[in-house]
Amino acid sequence: GSRMGLLAEVVGSLGDFSSHASLPVLVAAGAASFVVLAIVLNVLNQLLFKNPNEPPVVFHWVPFFGSTITYGMDPYQFFFSNKAKYGDVFTFILLGKKTTVCLDTKGNNFILNGKIKDVNAEEIYSPLCTPVFGKDVVYDCPNSKLMEQKKFVKFGLTQDALRSYVTLITAEVQDFIKRHKSFKGQKGTFNVPKVMAELTIYTASRSLQGEEVRNKFDSSFADLYHDLDMGFSPINFMLPWAPLPHNRKRDVARNKMIETYSEIVRKRRSGDVKKDAHDMIWHLMDCKYKDGTPVPDHEIAGIMIALLMAGQHSSSSTISWILLRLATKPQLFDELLEEQKRVLGAGLPPLTHDDLSKMPLHAQVVKETLRMHAPIHSIMRQVKQPLMIEGTNYVIPASHVLMSSPGVSANMSEHFVNPSTWDPHRWDADVAKNYDEDDQDDEKIDYGWGMVSKGTNSPYLPFGAGRHRCIGEQFAYVQLQTILAAFVREFKLRNPGGSTDIVGTDYSSLFSRPLAPAVVEWERMGREL
Ligand code: HEM
Repeated sequence: GSRMGLLAEVVGSLGDFSSHASLPVLVAAGAASFVVLAIVLNVLNQLLFKNPNEPPVVFHWVPFFGSTITYGMDPYQFFFSNKAKYGDVFTFILLGKKTTVCLDTKGNNFILNGKIKDVNAEEIYSPLCTPVFGKDVVYDCPNSKLMEQKKFVKFGLTQDALRSYVTLITAEVQDFIKRHKSFKGQKGTFNVPKVMAELTIYTASRSLQGEEVRNKFDSSFADLYHDLDMGFSPINFMLPWAPLPHNRKRDVARNKMIETYSEIVRKRRSGDVKKDAHDMIWHLMDCKYKDGTPVPDHEIAGIMIALLMAGQHSSSSTISWILLRLATKPQLFDELLEEQKRVLGAGLPPLTHDDLSKMPLHAQVVKETLRMHAPIHSIMRQVKQPLMIEGTNYVIPASHVLMSSPGVSANMSEHFVNPSTWDPHRWDADVAKNYDEDDQDDEKIDYGWGMVSKGTNSPYLPFGAGRHRCIGEQFAYVQLQTILAAFVREFKLRNPGGSTDIVGTDYSSLFSRPLAPAVVEWERMGREL
């Protein structure tokens, strides 16, 4: 009796509800029950249907969003905790996409050295990059054309070019320190990521981009650059063409940038400007594709924008981490200065490119910082046909995206002793291999822009591997070591109160960087410049 009574009451009140409730309330109730149902079905689906021929799926409550939030907040924590649960290969849902992560050296190799018929980069990166770089370059062209464009850039970074860059970058750093309001007097503090972002753009533009672009950064270019950069927000993986204000500004900025670069090229071609520098614009003006066509002006512009973006974020994040890490171990400033005096003489003459290779500790500081703070935490590829993963029963369907994170192997205790300790001296035995050179005895392959390892067993790959591997590594090392050397001569840094803490990482943009503000104390070593 009472049970029937209760039921009747509930049904009655429902009837009551529906006859009196307004339409929005009904719609909201309907939507809520739809969400609940979707969650229940999603959970049941995960519990009941496990496909033994596909990698395990990271458990998640909400369909479509899946693990997007946990991954996005801290990708490395996400990778390591799921590695512990599921092993080196697992799938998670990233904004509706089944994304298969393959970790450790085998995973790095599987994805980064994947064949072009199996895995594709431009399908993933183009929606984000093409509105920023413009047409016909990088991911808005066939891979074979990208390989030629990478060859142009790589071959433009000659020894002569790099030699001239060391001088130009040193001069920029000295001028910056002299002018910047943070560096007045004998000691003070500065917000490392903010100040280093500024310095990086001046040094990179003065060397690689050339004098005209450098001078524009004192005025119009900074705003254009900022607007263009906003186009790189992660939301644009989903909505690159949405008529949102930041996208409209990005498009205006891109067109103005392309126009500006094209004008520089036209002026130079007209003969008004003397060729007296080794910047990349001069080099690209002389390059020809295999079929004999020169690089059109808008492509020179696009390549230069791509280099500006790729170089700026990675280098500015890395030099910031370098200084922040050094501020936790100030005794390293003494060691670095000692190294410079030993190699160059106590008088510390101007630094040259040849000196860089004689200062292993400077290189090791860069190398170790990239081990712990590689600016690119996730590398993605679209699967093009079902892919077997060797040593497992897994076949990855063509609908999946593959995700590689070489930063994981670089921070595993299986490969590095005390991986969470920042210690440039861990590379002491490796002095001959200053850079991320893959194993010397590996088989080599040329994708069109120089020799790289065919397979790669190294757990340390901050510059990637395979056909999409970085071509900016040498330039990055020159820039970072030169800035580091100039700073060591000028300042000693330390954390406020001598603390050994380090800030966390900001993963909210595509390239990871130190959380700002991150303030350190500086003390001048000699007289004010
Ligand atoms: C590619 C890292 C500096 C230009 C890459 C990749 C990584 C990387 C991991 C591979 C991406 C993928 O496989 O999808 C870094 C780091 C840098 C740095 C850690 C500095 C510390 C630079 C600089 C430039 C540059 C300074 C330009 C001068 C490029 C280009 C590619 C690339 C053109 C090729 C993209 C492709 O083939 O799809 N970089 N990079 N990078 N990087 Fe860098």
